[in-house]
Amino acid sequence: MSAPKKLFIKTYGCQMNVYDSERMAEALGGEGYVETKSPDDADMILLNTCHIREKAAEKVYSELGRFKGLKAEKPDLKIGVAGCVAQAEGQEIMRRQPLVDLVVGPQSYHRLPEMEAKAREGEKVLDTDFPEEDKFEKLKNRPKAKRGPTAFLTVQEGCDKFCAFCVVPYTRGAEVSRPVDRILREAQDLVERGVREITLLGQNVNAYHGAGANGDMTLAQLIWELDKVDGLERIRFTTSHPNDMQDDLIEAHGTCAKLMPYLHLPVQAGSDKILKRMNRAHTAESYLRLIERIRAARPDILISGDFIVGFPEETEADFQATLDLVEEVKYGTAYSFKYSTRPGTPAAERPQVDPKEADDRLQRLQALLTKQQREVQDSMVGRDVTVLFEKAGRFPGQMVGKSDYLHAVHVADCDRAIGDLARVRILSSGANSLAGALID
Ligand code: 5AD
Ligand code: SF4
Repeated sequence: MSAPKKLFIKTYGCQMNVYDSERMAEALGGEGYVETKSPDDADMILLNTCHIREKAAEKVYSELGRFKGLKAEKPDLKIGVAGCVAQAEGQEIMRRQPLVDLVVGPQSYHRLPEMEAKAREGEKVLDTDFPEEDKFEKLKNRPKAKRGPTAFLTVQEGCDKFCAFCVVPYTRGAEVSRPVDRILREAQDLVERGVREITLLGQNVNAYHGAGANGDMTLAQLIWELDKVDGLERIRFTTSHPNDMQDDLIEAHGTCAKLMPYLHLPVQAGSDKILKRMNRAHTAESYLRLIERIRAARPDILISGDFIVGFPEETEADFQATLDLVEEVKYGTAYSFKYSTRPGTPAAERPQVDPKEADDRLQRLQALLTKQQREVQDSMVGRDVTVLFEKAGRFPGQMVGKSDYLHAVHVADCDRAIGDLARVRILSSGANSLAGALID
């Protein structure tokens, strides 16, 4: 038998890309590839790219340029670009960077084995179609390897919302939900391989409407199906849109014990004028009322969000409205960004805010969000939480896991194994994590 070929995948961006990279590794695993942590000994390098940040494409080109020496030494090395930059730039990548053998869009990963074979024969291959078939279903050849206690599972992809700043509807395409039976099969398989917690992924995950036995199911109905899977202990989902937060999902947060008390619900801005220009189709007030209803169902839920500052034509008063909204919600964690133009999106054409002003606003917003995050984390001290242990800590006998609220928790003198759940009393709150002790 010949030595296995080595695959190096570098993943940028969101959790969906992390999930996709795993699937690509499994697909190429069927072709005799094993993963390597270093590009230097790879037979194939894949960059799984993200297009959401500024100059994403430029960063990919410069990263590719760095492989020039490697390819000169090893002419058989194949280099591929996957993900959202691949989708957005397609042919342009092949034209600009002759080192690239293969360009594959996010909807075509199941075709990687054939693409790899063609690339081996010296062909340049590009596939950025949006095919009808379920790419994950086609990604068979899955080795039944044991896995860590947490996993992502993509249930929905794409977006029809067209927020004025965002490339996702263009790079990931229209909203598509995977059928319930396939998701359940995949969840069962993950549990058999050691997974205890599954995070359901989708760009607009709460818009989920996959085919079930008796017609389409909502995300809440899917969660109740997953609730029946023995051995699966925790369910999370991300990312949600406020307008798709349906009653049954809010209710599930109060009644489904496996559904964790954590919700990532981006609002982006607090000014109705800006929200309208962002094409968000909700107001600050409707978002606040929604948060109230969610907290009525599950009072201890930790709310997380995304914000953009310096969106075109944002005034100081508009920005102040964002700060006011943040004060009212009290976020447990949040991601905030300075607006940056994406060519082809509507906001790119509008009058831009002075970058210095935007920097200043970002700093002020981040200071407030960091303070809130700290307060929420500190408020855990003295409370009892359930921790799912994910790895050994730095010190002998120490284990590290995540609480129900997704806080990292360190436990000393811990006789539990990776994958165990235990009740833990929180004793102190550090820079980015909590420390606690086993209760029983
Ligand atoms: N500029 C700044 N932030 C952006 N995001 C998406 N597009 C842009 C952009 N053009 C942010 C949004 C989104 C998160 C994933 O990235 O806040 O929720
Ligand atoms: Fe982008 Fe999210 Fe808006 Fe869809 S809902 S366009 S993914 S920011």
